Amino acid sequence: MTIKRVGVIGSGIMGSGVAEVAAKAGFEVVLRSRAQASADAMIAGLEKSLAKQVDRKKLDDTERTAVLGRVRAVSDLGELAECDLVLESIVEEMAPKLELFAELDRICGEDAILATNTSTLSVAKMAAATGRPGQVCGIHFFNPAPAMALVEIVRAAASSDKTIATARAFAESCGKTAVDVRDQAGFIVNALLFPYLNNAVKLLADEVATRDDIDAAMKGGCNFPMGPLELLDLVGLDTSLSIIEALHAEFEDPNYEPSPMLVRLVKDGKLGRKAGAGFYDYPKK
Ligand SMILES: NC(=O)c1ccc[n+]([C@@H]2O[C@H](COP(=O)([O-])OP(=O)(O)OC[C@H]3O[C@@H](n4cnc5c(N)ncnc54)[C@H](O)[C@@H]3O)[C@@H](O)[C@H]2O)c1
Repeated sequence: MTIKRVGVIGSGIMGSGVAEVAAKAGFEVVLRSRAQASADAMIAGLEKSLAKQVDRKKLDDTERTAVLGRVRAVSDLGELAECDLVLESIVEEMAPKLELFAELDRICGEDAILATNTSTLSVAKMAAATGRPGQVCGIHFFNPAPAMALVEIVRAAASSDKTIATARAFAESCGKTAVDVRDQAGFIVNALLFPYLNNAVKLLADEVATRDDIDAAMKGGCNFPMGPLELLDLVGLDTSLSIIEALHAEFEDPNYEPSPMLVRLVKDGKLGRKAGAGFYDYPKK
């Protein structure tokens, strides 16, 4: 199946990143946010990001204009009716995702593929909210989407071979390396990564070491580009907590129980970079 028009839903960290990647790869992108103001703000963000790339000579002016010309920001979900592929990237909670999948199933053409960018949640449950479970899969980009090479293609029990092949072709057209994974909480990367991140918060809470020393230790000792607490701030602490809770629920491993410190930070609205504060403070630019 050939994908021409891609719908991206959600105006958070991932929605904007994926929209940029897809538009740069030549797809027409319909970017949907619930409020037109945030949809418009995403276009402004995209303009800023492309302008930086032009300044750094990574993109020329003609390409910038072409990329912007391929993206349309909308608030009405009905505008996604003509998309060949819709990738939702809304909050990491099952209830709103199920509601969205049911609505998309009503709105989108019968051949359209409906995909989720979820980090851990069951793709099968989302597929079951539609009348086309064979055309549902996970297409899991990483953060920041324009920079990260990997995409996990998540196969739920009912996903058809054609859906998986189309999703893989889409990810590869976006210049990404695609890996296949079965629909199990955390897929590959987050199943391995988040127990480690959660344990880093536990070390901090137990005052085994300071924030800066925990991050410095993993950068210097394991050659990781970022420390675990910096990475949690980048991902978003609310999203991270949802991921750890999903892993804990699936594997019932006491070691996966979310650190109370992480829970408290989320309750306090300290959600990481996107909120201006998390383990670190991020002054507004
Ligand atoms: N942050 C990451 O590092 C990362 C990486 C890969 C995948 N993901 C996944 O991408 C998805 C989005 O994550 P994000 O980091 O962009 O989150 P975010 O918090 O930056 O953005 C969430 C978006 O969802 C919208 N939203 C909130 N409640 C909603 C509802 N009830 N209905 C519709 N929209 C709603 C918000 O307005 C916002 O636009 C999640 O499924 C997450 O697991 C996140």
